[in-house]
Amino acid sequence: SNTPIRVAVTGAAGQISYSLLFRIASGAMFGPDQPVILQLIEVPFEKAMKALEGVAMELDDCAFPLLKGMVLTDDPRVGFKDANWSLLVGAKPRGPGMERADLLKDNGKIFIGQGQIIDEVAAADARIAVVGNPANTNCMIAASQAKRLTPDRFTAMVRLDQNRAQAQLAKKAGVDLTAVKDIFIYGNHSPTMFPAFKHATINGKPVKEVITDIDWLKGPFLETVGKRGAAIIAARGLSSAASAANALVDHVRSLVTPGAIHSVAVKSEGRYGFDPDVWAGMPVKTTTPGSYEVITSYELCDFCKEKIALTNKELVEERAAVLDMIKG
Ligand code: NAI
Repeated sequence: SNTPIRVAVTGAAGQISYSLLFRIASGAMFGPDQPVILQLIEVPFEKAMKALEGVAMELDDCAFPLLKGMVLTDDPRVGFKDANWSLLVGAKPRGPGMERADLLKDNGKIFIGQGQIIDEVAAADARIAVVGNPANTNCMIAASQAKRLTPDRFTAMVRLDQNRAQAQLAKKAGVDLTAVKDIFIYGNHSPTMFPAFKHATINGKPVKEVITDIDWLKGPFLETVGKRGAAIIAARGLSSAASAANALVDHVRSLVTPGAIHSVAVKSEGRYGFDPDVWAGMPVKTTTPGSYEVITSYELCDFCKEKIALTNKELVEERAAVLDMIKG
């Protein structure tokens, strides 16, 4: 349609956004015929807002035909107003010596506020995608604050893990990336996430028939995907922002493309052995733009169940650490 979509992005002056915003404005996320208005949200500090102005200048200078407007704001009420998609990228990073529980609580406060405001002011068809870490739990927190918007509107991103797993399998098998299908991520976006290689196919054959080195699949493969973020920080001195931005483009693009099959962290409702109240990565199929159904037909082997139990445990612990905040 020719009516622009309003896309709110938090952390808009950050690293991920510096790759992300240009892809949204170019049409990579919503397609080449869909105009967009970017509603860019940052923290109320001069340095952040100044940096945001710089990013907006560059967006102007790209002369993107689909970019119909920009809002620059440090007020989430303005930023999320009438937003069709809210991309929650901004989060507080873990400082030196900071405990994980403190990180959970500090971010919890941000996502409680944003969840409430989005519920109040975003568009009727609002969809929310969370990237800021700990993404699954932040998503659970934001969704917990919503009275109008149902939990299925809130998804967290595990697509970067899926893309990493797909690339590693293709490399090992020596095939084109597109030959690898149905590799799904279960659980938390953290090193405990589980890429269920058993269900993946390479040129239509089960992975295990093509990659016969089972020890590699259970060992180095899982380790490489799980620790990829740390490996990139070690190599680049900076985190994996461009591939994270790309993964968010894929996450949303797949969610607006009926028939797409992909990994998304959604409210588990008890599926695949996850606690019903946590947001866990699992395979979904997009039904209509912005809506999906969870694919529940995959049988889990004992090894898969073991791995899922570990990542579920972490999600349950994260939820327990913030439960007093979301209930209070
Ligand atoms: P960054 O530190 O470069 O940028 C974050 C930006 O968010 C900063 O500009 C900051 O001012 C802003 N911000 C913080 N709190 C905010 C708030 N309440 N409202 C609006 N803006 C706020 O970080 P980067 O590299 O862009 O990463 C962002 C987040 O994404 C991090 O939490 C990171 O861990 C996470 N991430 C998640 C991935 C995933 O697969 N789910 C992959 C890679 C990163």
